[in-house]
Amino acid sequence: MKLDNSSDLFNKSVKVIPGGVNSPVRFYKPFPFFIQSGYGSSIVTVDHETLLDYCMGYGSLILGHSYSDIVNVIQNCLDEGTMFCIPTEREVHLAEILTQIIPCAEKVRIVNTGSEATMTAIRLSRAYTKKKKIIKFDGGYHGAYDYVLVKAGSGSAYIPSSEGSLDEISRQTVVVKYNDLEDLENAIKREGNDISCLIIEPVLGNYGLILPEKDYLNRIRQITKQHNIVLIFDEVITGFRLSLGGGSEFFGIKPDLATFSKAMGNGFPVAAICGKDEIMDLLSPVGHVYQASTYAGNPVSVSAAIATIDTLKTKQNIIYPKLARLCDTLVTGIKDNVSKFNQLFTINSIGSLFQIFFSSERINSPLDVRNSDQKKFDQLFLNLLNSNIFIPPSQFESCFISYSHTDENIERTIEVYSDSLIKIMKEK
Ligand SMILES: Cc1ncc(COP(=O)(O)O)c(C=O)c1O
Repeated sequence: MKLDNSSDLFNKSVKVIPGGVNSPVRFYKPFPFFIQSGYGSSIVTVDHETLLDYCMGYGSLILGHSYSDIVNVIQNCLDEGTMFCIPTEREVHLAEILTQIIPCAEKVRIVNTGSEATMTAIRLSRAYTKKKKIIKFDGGYHGAYDYVLVKAGSGSAYIPSSEGSLDEISRQTVVVKYNDLEDLENAIKREGNDISCLIIEPVLGNYGLILPEKDYLNRIRQITKQHNIVLIFDEVITGFRLSLGGGSEFFGIKPDLATFSKAMGNGFPVAAICGKDEIMDLLSPVGHVYQASTYAGNPVSVSAAIATIDTLKTKQNIIYPKLARLCDTLVTGIKDNVSKFNQLFTINSIGSLFQIFFSSERINSPLDVRNSDQKKFDQLFLNLLNSNIFIPPSQFESCFISYSHTDENIERTIEVYSDSLIKIMKEK
């Protein structure tokens, strides 16, 4: 793959941007390629290489790059003004749509990013329960701020805890093992009656991809109810992706609060906290839980969210089955092609999400991921890239299929993955 222009840009970039990137997950060694444009399932680099994309803005682009229905809506919106900080009819419309499709959404507040959404959900839970501590899971990622940057996934999986975070705050965060009910029950016993909320990604998507065991989320719902702990589903990845109503609808479990972003706006910065009236009405200006943002509810992001959700809703009987079919075809295709080596790797998948691990064991917990062979994963990433397929450059992420991916894309991906896996296995 040609990289001359990317290399020049990276050399300029490191002089003015720490590490040359504006979010650490974008870096990989020796340097990342730079991007020019994206259309459908493909992206084009500044060196004019066309790559098939399975990163898709870390799950944001559920419909694909430059999806025309969304782009047209935004172009019209731009003519009417881009920023008011005054309520608009669009915001009411978006909130109404969310209350119709998100199982726990009686009220909604619209924000810009997943971090803002989860931070507000946690603050609301503390105010509602008048309790301090929170429970999160080893490997769960909920944003880049102190309460949740404890044993977190995604890019922060590479550093045990962030320097500059306050110990006084991270001590309020109780970390438990995913898919381990006993560990959760012991933690609740140990902490007495001081847990305000439990925040969980219904499917762990920031430590590779780890699926909840049968009945696990259901039991978590029962346990949190029993102990007056607010259950927060962090659906920043699963929302609008596992189904229109997110992981909550997919698994049939109603949390007290849920947070959304990513697929909600097909690439535009928009997020939401949804939940029960009695908790949401604690938000200022009704209640005394303060949350504010200049850009919250801006017309561009809100229009993108309405257009994205409208498309997902109107075509839900086509989009979700197609996503699941493409993902199943991809995973089965790779396994069939490489059956000789099947015992040396594992692929986890659900809906339109998948990830591969170099381990002969089932991958059921972050510990299993840590025990898998990450060097082989890094090799796979580079092999795929050299064949013009881009996946997130880390074992601690998931891969995403969009509605714009085609059967031909999947066929090519099966071939490239299979060839690369066979090469890696033979090298050992
Ligand atoms: C599950 C989850 N929650 C929260 C966040 C934070 O979202 P943002 O990066 O928009 O602040 C992420 C980001 O990857 C995420 O995957």
